[in-house]
Amino acid sequence: MNAVARGLTSFFLAIFLSASLFAQQSSTSTQNPDWWKNAVIYEIYPRSFQDSNGDGIGDLNGITSRLDYLQTLGIDAIWLTPIYPSPQVDFGYDISDYYNIDPQYGTLADFDRLVADAKKRNIGIIMDLVLNHTSDKHPWFIESASSRNNPKADWYMWHDPKMVDGKPQPPNNWLSVFGHSAWQWDPARQQYYYHRFYIQQPDLNWNNPMVRKAMYDAERFWIQHGVAGFRLDAITSLFEDPTFSDENYVLGPDGKPLINAYGDKRVDTLKTDNLPEVQDVLRELRQVADQTQGRKVVLIGETYLRSVGDLRKMYGAHNDELDLPMDMEVGFINRFDVNMFRERINQAETQINGDEPLFVFDNHDNIRWDRYDHDAHHEDAGRVIAAVLFASRDTAMMYYGDEIGMVTTPPTRKEDVKDPIGVTGWPKEKGRDGERTPMQWNDGPDAGFAPSGVKTWLPIPPSYEQINVTADEHEPDSMLHWYQQLIALKRQDPALHDGAETMLNKNDEHVLSWLRKAENGEAVVVACNFTDQPQTVSFDLAPQGVRGSSPKTLLKPPGAAEPASLGSIQLGPFGV
Ligand code: NOJ
Repeated sequence: MNAVARGLTSFFLAIFLSASLFAQQSSTSTQNPDWWKNAVIYEIYPRSFQDSNGDGIGDLNGITSRLDYLQTLGIDAIWLTPIYPSPQVDFGYDISDYYNIDPQYGTLADFDRLVADAKKRNIGIIMDLVLNHTSDKHPWFIESASSRNNPKADWYMWHDPKMVDGKPQPPNNWLSVFGHSAWQWDPARQQYYYHRFYIQQPDLNWNNPMVRKAMYDAERFWIQHGVAGFRLDAITSLFEDPTFSDENYVLGPDGKPLINAYGDKRVDTLKTDNLPEVQDVLRELRQVADQTQGRKVVLIGETYLRSVGDLRKMYGAHNDELDLPMDMEVGFINRFDVNMFRERINQAETQINGDEPLFVFDNHDNIRWDRYDHDAHHEDAGRVIAAVLFASRDTAMMYYGDEIGMVTTPPTRKEDVKDPIGVTGWPKEKGRDGERTPMQWNDGPDAGFAPSGVKTWLPIPPSYEQINVTADEHEPDSMLHWYQQLIALKRQDPALHDGAETMLNKNDEHVLSWLRKAENGEAVVVACNFTDQPQTVSFDLAPQGVRGSSPKTLLKPPGAAEPASLGSIQLGPFGV
């Protein structure tokens, strides 16, 4: 699509080199044990990427058919959200068999083909491993629920009720993340079971060694199928406080409990999240992952944490836990606040023992990056976000459709909602359908997502006529080309690949600037205007030991002027 038609005016980005042309890095093959450092990981929501068989639901063969596109984009790995057999209450996060593929998505043979074809393109496949809970239709839970003395009776978090006026009540005030009590009454056992997420997602009892063994067996199975790593779902919530005492209410400024989107009084999560035992499990998962001959299996954690100190712990005291706990502190600031970005990126650079940060701006649980939009500045905002993501010293995690600027398209009527939280929470919480809509490949029927004329599982957003891959491929100034260029620089430019990062002009309230410096002395300056007004910046790099005043521009947005010197650089609105 034409950039001007999308409202792009005077936004620009300039990246400077004080040294000569950048050298080619070696390819980030998954055979290289460090392939995941400074890599680009692309999250695919398989239901919505490419439907190959015309049932309106994306599938594995569809993903395989798009590998060339992903290779051209320049990614190193694909994270697939869960594709195991599942009743699909939480669209795969409710697993009923850890050893197979849901027929909606294909077969194990299709999976093996995807892994092999991706490998030929140096792309690894990362599996989502859901360890905190299973589906209530998993045979383990069915057996566990059948009596109080079956062999799996203790595999889940069962608890006696609190009796109030002779009636059974939940043992405490803990809430499900998805609304209302986290306890569900089971008439057969005359007990409650704990579910941090949906009622259909009972929590496993990680104190039980049999549970641990069963999950490590599943981990081994997928390693044998050639996966490059795992994204560990809800990994901080494996354990609960054994006293099972009430959480405190979260109070508002008036001293009264805050109310969540589902109408519940909000409670803290100190007794259900990030308990110290999680660390033991991470070490055990790591030991299994390391039992591969010469092949690195990367462990990524879904880690929404309270502080950078908590993030640091997730790597393990001896780097024996997660490789890449997700840093949600940077990407989910959700507004262009220069000081916050500067502080948090700097924390990741200086307070996690030099380990590799994993920055995430988007995923299948949150409004897409259009949440950063400013009036007519959709693409402008997107270029800033992409620059921060790919030009920082980090492993970068992106979400399908980011690269063409797909916009969040939530349902407008309750009866159309597919994600159950959108039903429970309507209209305050519309659910996550809006960020899970089908990939927009072209402006033809079904946006090229499904064979022509099929009813897709979520509607194709009306924006597909303008925002789609084919349009962007034909438009030199498109968002897609911006992403491709940034990713290519991240892979190939020594400073942008793994150079050290230092914040510049730290008192600037409008422009976020930083220096990347490679061991060979090459230096790159990145400057992002976080406002909708033009800004002028200048840099003195002598304190950083960078000499030379005639920079070379590596990348700038369409129409931006060529800066003359480091002494005066004009940045347009949301220019970089
Ligand atoms: C986090 C996943 O990203 C989300 O989609 C899911 O609903 C919950 N974990 C429960 O598995």
